[in-house]
This record gives sequence, C-alpha cells and structure tokens, in this order.
Amino acid sequence: MHRGSTGGRRRTLTRLVTLFALLAMAAGVLLPAVGAQSPYTTITPQSSQAEDIQWLYRIVFFLALFVFIGVQIAIVYTVLRYRRRANDERPEQLHGNKTLEVVWTIIPAIVLLAIFIPTVRTIYAHADDAETGNFTVEVYAKQWWWEIHYADDTGEAAGVVTANDIVVPQGKDVVFKLFSNNVIHSFWVPQLSGKLDVMPGHANRLPIDTDELGLYFGQCAEFCGDSHALMRFKVIVQQQEVFDQWAASWKAGPSETSADFVPDGDITKSPPAFGLCLACHQIEGTNATIAPEGLDQEAETDTGEMGPAKYAGPNLSLMGCRTTIGAGVLPNTPENMAKWLHDPGGIKPGVYMGEVIEEGTLDDESIQQLVDYLESLKPAEGCPEIPLQPGATEQVTPSNP
Ligand code: CUA
Repeated sequence: MHRGSTGGRRRTLTRLVTLFALLAMAAGVLLPAVGAQSPYTTITPQSSQAEDIQWLYRIVFFLALFVFIGVQIAIVYTVLRYRRRANDERPEQLHGNKTLEVVWTIIPAIVLLAIFIPTVRTIYAHADDAETGNFTVEVYAKQWWWEIHYADDTGEAAGVVTANDIVVPQGKDVVFKLFSNNVIHSFWVPQLSGKLDVMPGHANRLPIDTDELGLYFGQCAEFCGDSHALMRFKVIVQQQEVFDQWAASWKAGPSETSADFVPDGDITKSPPAFGLCLACHQIEGTNATIAPEGLDQEAETDTGEMGPAKYAGPNLSLMGCRTTIGAGVLPNTPENMAKWLHDPGGIKPGVYMGEVIEEGTLDDESIQQLVDYLESLKPAEGCPEIPLQPGATEQVTPSNP
C-alpha cells in the first residue's frame, strides 16, 4: 500500500517534468521562427511606437507570469500540506483573517497600478506624437482598399495619390490621418503600431516613425463586409532620394515605356480599351483624370448619401510598380492582371468593379491592351527597388488565400 502510493507520486512527478520539458521545447522551436518570415507578428517592433507597445506587453506578460507562478505554488503547497490524513483530522479553519485579506487586496492593486500607469503614459505620449509629426499621409479606407493622399508637408510628394502601397521616406515622424467614406475599418501595421479605427465623420490620427528601412505588411482589422480579409496594404520605407524620385515619376505621368501601348505613341492619352475605366480610375499626366477621389463630402451633404468617390477605384499612376493587385489579393504580374480584368468579382467578392466588369465584358484583345498598358506605367529607368523585411534575406510574400 505504502509502496504503491510512492510509485503513484513518482509517476505524477515524471508526467509533470515531461509536460514542462515539452512546453520549453515548443517555445524554443516556435519563438525564433517568429520574425522576418512572419510579417504580421506584433512582437518584432520596428518603430518607436511599436517598441512602446512591446514594453507594455512585456510588463503585462511578466506580471501575469509572476501571478501564475505564485498561484501555482500556493495551490501545490496547500494540496500537499493539507491533504487528507490517515486520522481524518480536519486542518485548522481560517475565516476573516485580516492580514490575509489585506495582503490579497494589496498585491492585485500593485499589479494593476504597475500596468495602468505606463499604459496611460504611453497613450498620452502617442497622442502627442500624433500632433507633432512632420509628414502627413491621409488614408481613405474604401471598400475594400486604401486610398493614399500625400499632404502639403510631404515635400516632393504633396498631391500624390496612390493606393495600398504606402511609400514613405526614412527618418520621418509620419502621422496617418484616417478617413472612411463608408463603414468602420481599422488600420493596422503590426510591426509599426497598434490598431486604430478608421471611421466615417471623424479623422483619427496614428503616429508612426520610420527609422527602419523596410517593407511592412498591414491589414484591415475590423470586419467591414465581403472582402474585409482582402483589404491589405504595405508600408514601404525608402531612402529619401528614392522616395523623392518615386514622387517625381508619379507627377511626370507615363514614361516612354508606355508609348508602344497608346494611340500614336502619345503618352498623354490612354488606350481605347481604357475608355471603360475612365469614370473610376485616374492616371496622372493623361486624359484619365475625371474619376472622383477622396471623400466626396459635398455629395454627402447634398443628399445625405456618399457620392461617387465611394464607388470609384484606385489611382493607377505607376501601376507597374505596385506590388499587388486588388489590395493584396494577387501579386502584380501580367498574368494576374489579365485574370483580374477577366473577372474581378470572382477574385474579390463584392468589389464594385465587378458590377461594371463581369466575365466576358472585356474581350481578350482589350484585356491584352489593358495589361500591356497598366504594367508599362512605371518610370523609364524602372521601379524603385523594394527594401526587404527587417531581418529577412529574401522578399517575403505572405501566401494568398
Ligand atoms: Cu476594412 Cu475590414
């Protein structure tokens, strides 16, 4: 009898040791794998704001660990110390012990204060950052993509409008001003900052400094309709010279690269097949500049409804340099562009473009004409090189759904 119970205790001990060893091994294998190959992780911060958040996360994690270990030790001690004895004697009963009551009120209060104070300080510090930035990027969340406008304090880029690939220069205190012309979205670049809601009728401001060159993945983080999961974007932090060159190319309009694909080689014109696209898409430096962009607030006040800017699509200037098609749905290649033009609604459910272009709307010749033209929209000297993810040795592409 006595020997049996010792054996049982030893077995329990062996099981516990095995469990902890497995947990430690899992942590050892999984944690180093998080990083460059996991561009959506929050635990490899690459901006000072993300580092502040990481610091809060550490405080919470280690305090939780401290509480967890304390509670486990208390449980194990109590179970062993006061286990049922042979003589069935009841342990001493404790009720209303003042010292104990005070201790287990004060410890949680200290733990909560240790989380509360730095959290509130960080919230206020980030609110200050949002007022003192030196580079303003206006982001309009649309269904289901992101329209990017560069404000007056962006130097060379003031007035540039693009989509989904947010190019910013290194070493700036960027403030993202967030607008929505439809429903509530959430702007989230896990390695650069926390999430911030993008809502109609109110502009939120999110500060992110851009000290580290690199490519950062973002995603809408608030359910916003059919293609919420296909509402991705990237923040591309470039050297200042590369950024200025990119902005200048945007303003210059199509380069000679496009001459072969437009009537009479006149690069200020768009090809005939683009006629169907004019109402929704602008291309700087061409006759395609009538499509509405931004919020369309006037239409909003007149009729109580959002105007045509709600339905219009991305500005396609420098489309040949964009990394993806359809806000991260497909990598930007000629084959994918043809697929997209063939049936956008089949690739991205609910996309407004699918109401105009269905399977068969464009014949193969028109699609080829558009693919050639759109992919040619890049600087004559080629697109700026996209920096790598911090810590990566090759370009990271998250797998497509
Ligand atoms: Cu936009 Cu979810």
